Amino acid sequence: MPAPPLQDRDPRREYDQARQTCPVQRQAGKVIVYGHPEVTEVVTQPELFSSAVSRFRQLPNGLDGAEHQQWRALTDPYLMDPENLREVEHLARQVMREVLGGLTLPATVEAVSDLGARYAVRVQLRWLGWQADLEGQLLDWVQENRRASRSGDHAWTGRVAEAFDAIIRGELARRRGQERDDVTARLMNEQGSGRPLQDEALVSVLRNWTSGDLGSLALCAGVIVAFLAEHAEVQARLRAGVTTQEFDAALDEILRMDDPFVANRRVALRDTRLGGVAVARGEVVQVNWTAANRDPRVFADPDAFCPAKHAPDNLVYGLGPHACPGRALSTLELHVFTEELLRATHSVTWAAASTRELPPGGGYATVVVRLA
Ligand code: HEM
Repeated sequence: MPAPPLQDRDPRREYDQARQTCPVQRQAGKVIVYGHPEVTEVVTQPELFSSAVSRFRQLPNGLDGAEHQQWRALTDPYLMDPENLREVEHLARQVMREVLGGLTLPATVEAVSDLGARYAVRVQLRWLGWQADLEGQLLDWVQENRRASRSGDHAWTGRVAEAFDAIIRGELARRRGQERDDVTARLMNEQGSGRPLQDEALVSVLRNWTSGDLGSLALCAGVIVAFLAEHAEVQARLRAGVTTQEFDAALDEILRMDDPFVANRRVALRDTRLGGVAVARGEVVQVNWTAANRDPRVFADPDAFCPAKHAPDNLVYGLGPHACPGRALSTLELHVFTEELLRATHSVTWAAASTRELPPGGGYATVVVRLA
């Protein structure tokens, strides 16, 4: 079945257009960077573009320099350690089989919420060792967060962020005095500057691992399912059995063409020039990964599926000192998600029109497919 028409606008076309007009633009008091070389310039020069953009302390993403490196050294092993990753693979497979086991095929499903968000939330809860009964609350939070982000209402997004912190604080409070051996317990026992991490630091680290991940993983899952429904030949190739490297390279390339993790911010530390535009010290600079990943100056045909050729320039997981430490973890989760989906079905095809997520989000709001 051919792709049904999109019901609404596709912001990627707007980013493509903007980048073509000028790769660096000033909009609503911000400098927006759409071009691949210019985004690369920003994120690889932390001495010129600082990550300390928010008035809230954000660990490690709001830090610069030596302090940033110390926090990365403390928290990276949780996300990258091969033993941790083996544990995640095992529980992710269990979770995806449960999620798919609840369906009677053939079935029509909405891939972002019914598959992606459900899977991401359940894997996170088990990985972190949190109470299973938080699942409903976190799924509601993912939906509310997307609605608030779309609205552009800062008071609403602030309340939603606070609600998430409250969930984390509740989980930390419940654990005090308990003997546990899981990822959260290990983090709570970490020594920062010779003493256990304070709640404020724990909440910030856990917020980074969870709130970003839950939303972006579900959106990544939606983009992958939509691509497979649209490209029967790639679906057939992945079904036929390919190496892990080829499988993961295909997922990275699908996400490059339609990167749902749209933007991050920096602040200029000195007056400078970027892509011919003057940037003043103190100005906020927003890098648009989605636009940069489709820059024809680097990817001659941005919509061509060429995993090997495009891999070296793919910016889905960022670049420079703040590049995503969760890359191996999320690649693993997306690999298991896709592999189990293909194993449980003979075909994934479009069932109804899909809808795009609106800025500041990316990817799809809904992907309705038929699993048979
Ligand atoms: C699901 C797909 C994901 C995508 C597309 C993604 C993408 C990114 C990108 C582009 C950055 C760079 C931000 C910047 O330069 O300002 C980043 C940073 C980060 N990501 Fe991810 N990420 C994903 C999943 C995850 C997961 C699963 C985790 C952890 C469980 C995670 C944790 C982080 C953290 C802590 C940072 C901040 C690093 C720093 O500032 O040093 N991400 N991510």
